[in-house]
This record gives sequence, structure tokens and C-alpha cells, in this order.
Amino acid sequence: MHESDKVSKPNGESLSATAPAATGRRRNAWGATPGAANSSGADGVADVPVPQPRTGRGLGLPLRPAAPAKATATVVATDGGVSRETTTTEAGQEPPLAMEARRAVQVWNPGGGVEMPRPTRRRVMSVANQKGGVGKTTTTVNLAVALALHGNRVIVIDLDPQGNASTGLNVPHHAGVPDIYSVLIENVPLIEVAQAVDGIPNLRCVPATIDLAGAEIELVSVVAREQRLTRAIAAYPEEFDYVLIDCPPSLGLLTVNALVAAEEVLIPIQCEYYALEGLNQLLNNINLVKAHLNPHLDVSTILLTMYDRRTRLADAVEQDVRNHFGDKVLRSVIPRNVRVSEAPSYGQSVMTYDPASRGATSYYEAAQEIALRGVKND
Ligand SMILES: Nc1ncnc2c1ncn2[C@@H]1O[C@H](COP(=O)(O)OP(=O)(O)OP(=O)(O)O)[C@@H](O)[C@H]1O
Ligand SMILES: [Mg+2]
Repeated sequence: MHESDKVSKPNGESLSATAPAATGRRRNAWGATPGAANSSGADGVADVPVPQPRTGRGLGLPLRPAAPAKATATVVATDGGVSRETTTTEAGQEPPLAMEARRAVQVWNPGGGVEMPRPTRRRVMSVANQKGGVGKTTTTVNLAVALALHGNRVIVIDLDPQGNASTGLNVPHHAGVPDIYSVLIENVPLIEVAQAVDGIPNLRCVPATIDLAGAEIELVSVVAREQRLTRAIAAYPEEFDYVLIDCPPSLGLLTVNALVAAEEVLIPIQCEYYALEGLNQLLNNINLVKAHLNPHLDVSTILLTMYDRRTRLADAVEQDVRNHFGDKVLRSVIPRNVRVSEAPSYGQSVMTYDPASRGATSYYEAAQEIALRGVKND
């Protein structure tokens, strides 16, 4: 990366040894890239390659590699025996995000030999908690990137009308983009709306647009309304190791669709005072779905998020959760880390934005635990 390509970072709490890999321009609060139309960089922001919205996003076509036009897919060295795709441009150079992704893997596993084995069968995990802002989307995005960077084939389904997972993975999701609404309500096959994620070759994302806001009501009158997502996933013609579903902060029909489609629920719990409030309601709903619609459903994983080591409260919440849920709770705990919250504004996960930050290494460890547990349970 050229010196001029670096985006200055504010002083923060990160323990990172290296500068954040901010490859794209920072977006403003409305998701727009400042001066995006002006490639001269006259807005004062370094003139760096910015992932551009793709056109003709593969409607009816096979999925394309997540690389700029004229890129070719190649297979490179293996990590822990799992071969990973990467992409090169015609000039023989990797796209910037792919370079950052490779750099991230080197930060986590300087010696190679990482253990993030692929499961023997597809794992469908719904990331759910009807409490808002507990880290569902952040968890979905970062686990997906970590797993994909280690050879797992992953698809993220954004099931939240807010479209935050789509934003976090820098996938176009403006009005008019075919999205999960088209799948649930209009019977469009999932493969026609799944988009490649720039720089992360094994990762796809099914975006959510604002259209999805109406789905909760429209689903009521649709045939087999609770099974729409299950059927769409079953009809997907490609193999995936992980399907990660980012649920909205509610227990409506969208979340029910996610719970019916999944075998596993991952509940992120924020290490805050009100964290456990409402959890019983979520567990009751999961039990109802299990009893009536999906006997295979299980709360397999609890992840503690936004842990602030300076507070005794966080410690107390952790103890409560571990006492209650036992070994469903991952050993890895995600700290409150400013890099994690900065990353989406650069159109990246923290995994590539600042791979050495405490946020990224914790999500990396959580992904590794999830992968190892999955293999053990097979
Ligand atoms: N570990 C972390 N450290 C610092 N900030 C975080 C961390 N995890 C999440 N955040 C920030 O907290 C906010 C809420 O996170 P996120 O959007 O992932 O929660 P959510 O449960 O998906 O929210 P919603 O219920 O609205 O869908 C976001 O601004 C995110 O950037
Ligand atoms: Mg969310």
C-alpha cells in the first residue's frame, strides 16, 4: 500500500501493531463515500481504490468471484491443509482488499497451521437476540469473514431491514437491488440475489433493502410463511459450509423464518446490566419453534460481546451467563473495541480493517472455537 493510500487513524484503544487496513474511503453517516464521484481526491481524502457497486449482479448467472472486472480466480497456498481461493487482476496484482485479507490471515497465523476445519455438513446458524444493539450484525459479519478467510465457504443472509450486514460487507443494498425480500415474498431463487463480497473469495452475502421492512406484514398471508427461508436455502444449488443469518431485533416472522431454517442459534449477549432481560422470551420462542416447526433447532452458541474489562459489571454478567448456559458460552469474549465500531464506515469488517486489534483477534478466536466445536459434534 502506498503511503498516500493510508487513511489516518485516530488514537484509540487498539493493541494493534500495524495501521488499520482502511482500503476504501470512509463513508459518511448516510453510507455515501465522500467525494466518491470525484476520483481526483479533491475532497482531501487519499485517492484510493473504492469498491464500486456492481451492476448486473448475477441475475440468473452463476456467482462471480469477488474481484474487480477482469479478475481471475486462482488457488494459492494452504492454511492448515485447507486451500483458499484468491484473486489476481490481469496485471498480476491482487485487489487491495484481497491483499488486506491475506495480510490478516498472516497476522493471526504467522506460522500457518491454523485449525479452522470445515464442517462435514452445512451448518445453518441464526444469530438472534431480540434486544437491539447487542452485536448480532457485528458478530455475523466478523465470524463470516474469519471463517471464509480460512477456507470455509460462507453465505451471510441479511434478514434485517436495517441492512447493516449488507453495509458491513460493502454489498450494494439500495432500493431496487434484488434482495432477501424478493426471495421471501416473490420466490426469487436465493442464488439470483446472492452477491460476492469484495476481497473475500469464499464469502457471499444476500442483502436486505428497505423493501424488507414490509415483509413482516406481507408474510402473514403467504403460504408456508414460516418456511420461506428454509425452502430458499434448500434450493440453493451451491454447497456452503456455513449459512449465517443476521436476524432483526424482534421476534416477528422474519426471525421465525430464521429459526425454522437453522439448526443452530448463536445468541450474542452484551456484557451490560440489561443484557439478560428479554432472554427468557427469546428462549421461549426458540422452544416454541423447536416444538412445532423445527425439532432440530438448538441454542448451540452464546457469545459475550462488548466486554469492558474496566467494569465489575461486565465480569458479573459473564459469570451469570456462564453459570446459566455452561459450555454453550464460547471461551472467547469480544471486548468493546473502537476498531470494531469504526470498520463498517470503511466498508470492511474489523478482520481486514485492523486484523491485529483486540476486536479482530477475539472474533478470530471465536470463529476458531465455533469451527472446532462443529467438527467435534459431527
Ligand atoms: N465489540 C464491539 N466494540 C465496540 N463497538 C461495537 C462492538 N460490537 C458492536 N459494536 C457497535 O455497537 C453497535 C451495535 O452493534 P450491532 O449493529 O452489531 O448490533 P445488533 O445487535 O446487530 O443491532 P440491531 O439489533 O440494531 O440489529 C454498532 O454501532 C457496532 O459498531
Ligand atoms: Mg443488526
